[in-house]
Amino acid sequence: MPDQVKRLLVAFAIFIAIFLLARYFLIPDSFGELGHYRADAIGDAEAYPLSHAGREACIKCHGDVVEEISYGFHAKLSCEGCHGPAYKHAYYAELADPQNFPDSLMLNKPVERDFCARCHDRNRSRIRFASDSTEISQVTMVDVSDHNHFIYEETNEIIRCVECHYPHSP
Ligand code: HEC
Ligand code: HEC
Ligand code: HEC
Ligand code: HEC
Repeated sequence: MPDQVKRLLVAFAIFIAIFLLARYFLIPDSFGELGHYRADAIGDAEAYPLSHAGREACIKCHGDVVEEISYGFHAKLSCEGCHGPAYKHAYYAELADPQNFPDSLMLNKPVERDFCARCHDRNRSRIRFASDSTEISQVTMVDVSDHNHFIYEETNEIIRCVECHYPHSP
């Protein structure tokens, strides 16, 4: 065997050794147990605290709202999309004293114009197909800085969307 091939083989052997060593230290223990990923990731994900409860969880105490929203334009929106994550609220509200409801269980009530604007403000990058059956899947847009933009003289505040549109059935 010529000398240069021997040297090349030595170099290859070193590279392979380094590769195997690196592989040994870098690959997590549970890799491959359940396929081409780290099986422990499932346990890690399970250990995260839950923050959302889902609409089903609201029926027990706010069945009226769940029902009224189901007939209106906002039927497909999630409660927690507007009120924020409600896991703690849904599971501990029962134990709380209704006369002295703890702040930590309170959810936000998004009554500001800015909130509705997130979905309804006119945005040229959102397409709305007029006279098309897919219309309902598109959000109706208004110019939030113009649509019923009354200012109360006494308080200098702009009228809120929820004073005219009931958010659960707009
Ligand atoms: C175990 C009963 C219970 C469950 C389940 C529950 N809530 Fe509540 N909720 C309450 C109580 C009690 C109050 C506070 C008393 C009140 O103001 O009516 C409250 C208040 C609220 C408020 C604020 C009302 C206000 O005036 O500030 C919102 C918003 C709300 N809940 C949304 C939800 C959503 C969304 C869910 C489902 C993810 C949910 N709740 C699940 C019992 C519950
Ligand atoms: C589009 C956003 C939006 C969605 C979706 C929504 N809410 Fe609300 N909700 C509001 C706003 C805004 C208020 C405050 C209304 C006000 O004070 O005028 C409110 C008020 C409430 C209140 C206080 C009592 C009342 O009726 O005013 C409860 C309870 C409540 N929501 C529960 C729910 C539940 C349960 C769902 C899902 C079935 C839900 N909400 C979905 C925006 C929303
Ligand atoms: C997460 C996005 C989202 C938010 C936030 C939201 N909406 Fe909507 N809204 C929708 C969708 C989706 C529809 C149903 C499709 C449509 O008709 O535009 C709708 C429909 C409506 C309609 C009926 C439009 C029509 O076609 O006649 C009104 C009015 C309305 N929303 C008012 C409000 C108000 C007021 C708020 C704030 C309290 C609000 N929305 C917050 C998504 C949203
Ligand atoms: C003074 C009462 C009032 C206020 C405040 C108000 N609206 Fe309206 N809105 C109406 C009326 C009435 C209509 C139906 C007639 C029309 O299209 O103007 C309407 C229509 C709509 C529509 C449907 C438009 C369409 O083309 O079919 C949307 C979406 C809407 N409003 C969202 C909002 C949002 C978001 C806010 C807050 C930024 C808001 N509105 C504030 C009274 C109001």
